[in-house]
Amino acid sequence: MKENVFIMEHPLIQHKISMLRDERTGTNEFRRLIEEITVLMGYEALRDLPLEDIKIKTPIETCYSPMVSGKKLAIVPILRAGLGMTGGILTLVPSAKVGHIGLYRDEETHEPHEYFCKLPAPIDQRTILVLDPMLATGGSAVAAVNFIKQHGGKNIKFMCIIAAPEGIKHFHECHPDVPIYCGHLDRCLNENAYICPGLGDAGDRIFGTK
Ligand code: URA
Repeated sequence: MKENVFIMEHPLIQHKISMLRDERTGTNEFRRLIEEITVLMGYEALRDLPLEDIKIKTPIETCYSPMVSGKKLAIVPILRAGLGMTGGILTLVPSAKVGHIGLYRDEETHEPHEYFCKLPAPIDQRTILVLDPMLATGGSAVAAVNFIKQHGGKNIKFMCIIAAPEGIKHFHECHPDVPIYCGHLDRCLNENAYICPGLGDAGDRIFGTK
């Protein structure tokens, strides 16, 4: 596997991804599983979060003890499926700021275009965790990270639950400096750019739409 690509092989993550894949898993459970997997993956992806020493009075004495500097983390879900992962990271770092990026695909060129982008300032001083459960062709993830870099973002990580090899390759070629945290690497894309075996349309399954 490429440098900067981390496949999380923890048994709990793998078990929950199998439940996600099952077409019988309903909206409620699907949402809960997405959040739980995000928490488990976030634990590892945020291993290098900056800490600051805070003065604390214990029942015994006053000391300085490290705490996560939540102000330094920005979560950026890619609309709309990335929203399903946001709560999982906020469970770990409740004070993180949340930006949003919305992209649509041009019907003719298939190129992603930004229709919404709101990022917390100052973006250049934050660790930025971009969220999208599915890394398929990589087009949206690449475009989202392009926008974040154009706005001054520097320390960026990308987190997805399932990736296709095509998406990893494309993303890594465009942004070799951005680590990819992935729950499972699937086989390939089909002719409609769905991941195989995948789990179908993550956005539809999170929001109960069709
Ligand atoms: N987006 C999805 O939600 N599912 C896929 O399989 C590919 C892209």
